[in-house]
Amino acid sequence: MPIRSFLPLAALLSLATAAQTPFRPQQPAEHISAAVNYEALFSAPTINGPYGASNAFSDDSWSLMSFGYADPLRCFGTDKETPFDVAIIGAPFDTTTSYRPGARFGPMGIRQGSRRMHIGSINVPYKTRVTDHLHVVDCGDVPMTFVDNKVAIRQLETANADLVQRSSATAFNGSSIAKDGKFHPRVLTLGGDHTITLPLLRGVAKVYGPVSVIHFDSHIDTWRPGTYEGGPWLPGEEVPVTHGSYFWYAAQEGLLAPNNTNIHVGIRNALQTWGDYENDYEVGFVISHAEDIEEVGWRGIVKRIREVVGENPVYITLDIDVLDPAQAPATGTPEIGGFSTREIKQILKGLRGLKIVGADIVEVAPAYDTQAEITQIAAANIGWDILALMAETPLSD
Ligand SMILES: *[C@@H]1O[C@H](CO)[C@@H](O)[C@H](O)[C@H]1NC(C)=O
Ligand SMILES: *[C@@H]1O[C@H](CO)[C@@H](O)[C@H](O)[C@H]1NC(C)=O
Repeated sequence: MPIRSFLPLAALLSLATAAQTPFRPQQPAEHISAAVNYEALFSAPTINGPYGASNAFSDDSWSLMSFGYADPLRCFGTDKETPFDVAIIGAPFDTTTSYRPGARFGPMGIRQGSRRMHIGSINVPYKTRVTDHLHVVDCGDVPMTFVDNKVAIRQLETANADLVQRSSATAFNGSSIAKDGKFHPRVLTLGGDHTITLPLLRGVAKVYGPVSVIHFDSHIDTWRPGTYEGGPWLPGEEVPVTHGSYFWYAAQEGLLAPNNTNIHVGIRNALQTWGDYENDYEVGFVISHAEDIEEVGWRGIVKRIREVVGENPVYITLDIDVLDPAQAPATGTPEIGGFSTREIKQILKGLRGLKIVGADIVEVAPAYDTQAEITQIAAANIGWDILALMAETPLSD
């Protein structure tokens, strides 16, 4: 335990010896209030562990549950002029899920999983403390209606586009890779079912143009929406986007970097036909399958990812079902044979130096989690590592 943790404790102890003897009832608060040092009593080390001051219960902090104790910010309200470098947002949306719904509670579940993590702690493998480099805030959850997916997606798209087009808090060195040459904040979104990546990529493309996507998932999600002739849709009626087809739409909209510089990692889904893979290639992806972890190991997977994306700006989207259900059961469409948390951490660390313009972690459905919250804790730790990647590499040339 760091020495500084003892300091407020020492203050409390000196109080306690003065005010109490054994077997005496607790003194009512009004008898001791004059002597209480409230600053020490409510300081971060005594309340939440040895994490520094940012989660203190004080004039400028609420101690509300945010991701990794990032400052809670009313990004579209009172604090909208306050600049930041990374915004955490939640996308509480699961009405395009094909199997088990529940990812609408993912954002709060992942924050819950982050309660023992702090953005101000040192990430040892990265030798990085995120707060030394970036001002990270948590804007809370974007309201997304559950009665109309089109409207919900528009709500998220609008919020994200606004955030990513603001100016960043930190004046980074060099020139920005953004189209306008300026530095803009990055957004780490906590999903939400995977459809949310489509509106998020729209915002990213506005600022950086098409980017290479590194897609961690057990499913390819590039499926072409069917015409469903003879099905429930009327002739000519639009078939809505789902969490299995959003990448197809992203490609149609020109949001993905060209020439198959996008990659799926961890794939192990069943196919309807082999044509699914031809379609996937046309959409712009190459595939690294889950069994590559046995065949070529995390080093081989990292090498393949880096060959594919090259120097392009990168967007990371991570479906928690890329992990094995043994370590992440709380998700909508689990597939056995996935990565362990140890393996995903190694692969992510292999992405150091890539210019990560944004990221999301999706498909966490806390209702299916164990009481030990293993999925939520896994998702939170992955988010924490992604922040370290962002902190190490500014978006400059
Ligand atoms: C810019 O570069 C200087 C000199 O290397 C360094 O001290 C400073 O921390 C850099 N600023 C940022 C925001 O990285
Ligand atoms: C894509 O590949 C083609 C053919 O190899 C090449 O001519 C083109 O310049 C590439 N485009 C980009 C953006 O790299």
